[in-house]
Amino acid sequence: MLERAVARIREETSLEPRVGLVLGSGLGGVAEEVAERVVVPYADIPGWPISTAIGHAGRLVLGRLGDVPVAVMQGRVHLYEGVSPEHAVFGIRVLGRLGVETLVVTNAAGAINDSYRPGMLVVISDHVNLLARSPLVGPNDERLGPRFPDMSDAYDPALRALAREVADRLGLETAEGVYGAWLGPQFETPAEIRFMRLIGCDLAGMSTVPEVIAARHMGIRCLGISVVTNMAAGIAEGKLGHEEVLEVGARTEPRLTALLRELVPLVAEL
Ligand code: HPA
Repeated sequence: MLERAVARIREETSLEPRVGLVLGSGLGGVAEEVAERVVVPYADIPGWPISTAIGHAGRLVLGRLGDVPVAVMQGRVHLYEGVSPEHAVFGIRVLGRLGVETLVVTNAAGAINDSYRPGMLVVISDHVNLLARSPLVGPNDERLGPRFPDMSDAYDPALRALAREVADRLGLETAEGVYGAWLGPQFETPAEIRFMRLIGCDLAGMSTVPEVIAARHMGIRCLGISVVTNMAAGIAEGKLGHEEVLEVGARTEPRLTALLRELVPLVAEL
């Protein structure tokens, strides 16, 4: 199936992307800046899962950012949509097969760390997988990677340092933190957030972790950037809603886009 998907994309372009990007809910702006772009709707790619989430365009954009050939996933599926973990990472494996060496993953997240604020960009330093599942469960495909991949430095230290350096240069405030992956789709309870804080999570979100596991399995270097869209349940007053996540995401998206525009061409050289 991977091969069929790659062949279908190759019918549209001979571009060999070096950097892959995954753009989360309402965070798709940088895809509009890709030059010499070829757009392939996910629905046209055999085997590619289709997202049901609001704010997810669902297409692959291939082209150049700066001089660097990139493949941008504009929209992703989440495990809470009911897809299997293996199916959820299909796109990441296709990017790997297309030649991507570095993956930049973005997401919207709730802040557990109370020094964060909505609208902040947080570079992910590590994750805790609270999904209780992995895309690597089942017989291992040795052509993709090893049975027991290492997950130390899953979020590449040099890429993290570069991301923060570029953000500083642009005058964008960033922090670093641990991302806790929550299955959802319901937000966490305040008690669950207290538990996540206790085990070392700074951020709560419902994506990214399966993608990074699949990418590390293939030896792809990863960088993760969260847009803080809300304080997590019980961290601040008030109720949580998807509208707030989309609204703050949309407001913050230009800053994320500014960062990615500068960062992605440099990432390829690292
Ligand atoms: N929890 C989980 N996922 C999220 C949140 C949250 O508070 N905000 C955005 N995605």
